[in-house]
Amino acid sequence: MNAVYPNNHLKDFYGRNFYVTPDVLIPRPETEQLIDMVLNLAGESYLPGVKPSKRKLPEHPRILDVGTGSGCIAITLQLNIPKAEIIATDISESALKIAQKNAIKYGIDPHLFIISDLLENVKFTPDLIVANLPYVDENWDWLDKKALSYEPKIALYAKDSGLELIKKLIKQSNARQIKYLALEADPCQHQDIVDFANENYYHLIETRGFCILLELH
Ligand SMILES: C[S@@+](CC[C@H](N)C(=O)[O-])C[C@H]1O[C@@H](n2cnc3c(N)ncnc32)[C@H](O)[C@@H]1O
Repeated sequence: MNAVYPNNHLKDFYGRNFYVTPDVLIPRPETEQLIDMVLNLAGESYLPGVKPSKRKLPEHPRILDVGTGSGCIAITLQLNIPKAEIIATDISESALKIAQKNAIKYGIDPHLFIISDLLENVKFTPDLIVANLPYVDENWDWLDKKALSYEPKIALYAKDSGLELIKKLIKQSNARQIKYLALEADPCQHQDIVDFANENYYHLIETRGFCILLELH
């Protein structure tokens, strides 16, 4: 989970540079696998020489990035799946300003980045939600809190062993019958997430590193 703060305020993610400040999480390499998973589901190639699976998402997929931070996930997906309709949210106004700045840099409409507590302000019904929500449990004894001190607490920590927001999102997604969820969490949390997802009618399609892909029954 640790990241070194970039002196030039630019961090590489999936081959592109994103502007970061202390208002946002520094994009992590483990999050890049969320992009691979979603591209694969959209039938898009994500690695030279690796054939993607048969497309499961519609040709013009509607995607929602919850907890967008710097905007790295939403912007990367939009640039790699130009036919997608993508909206991104964050509860932090200061984080959204950074995401909007990155969106403008990459020619994406900054109005697609909206303030919302999880799905509260979202009118859009996506085919897929992608979310790297805060999942760090403050009580993990292997945690290097000093290494995380340059990033906002709201981007890192969650109650209920780190799972509070992920569980809320699964419940809200079920209520809206959203078909796919691509989530990031520490691998030590994956089994608990899958168990909770099963209780809410989502089943596991695959895990890749820190990332989990769930489908509604
Ligand atoms: C782990 S950071 C991820 C940032 C970015 N998506 C990435 O992968 O680098 C989590 C983000 O979720 C946002 N967040 C925290 N609680 C939230 C909530 N209840 N609803 C929406 N966003 C939330 C934080 O402000 C933060 O930007």
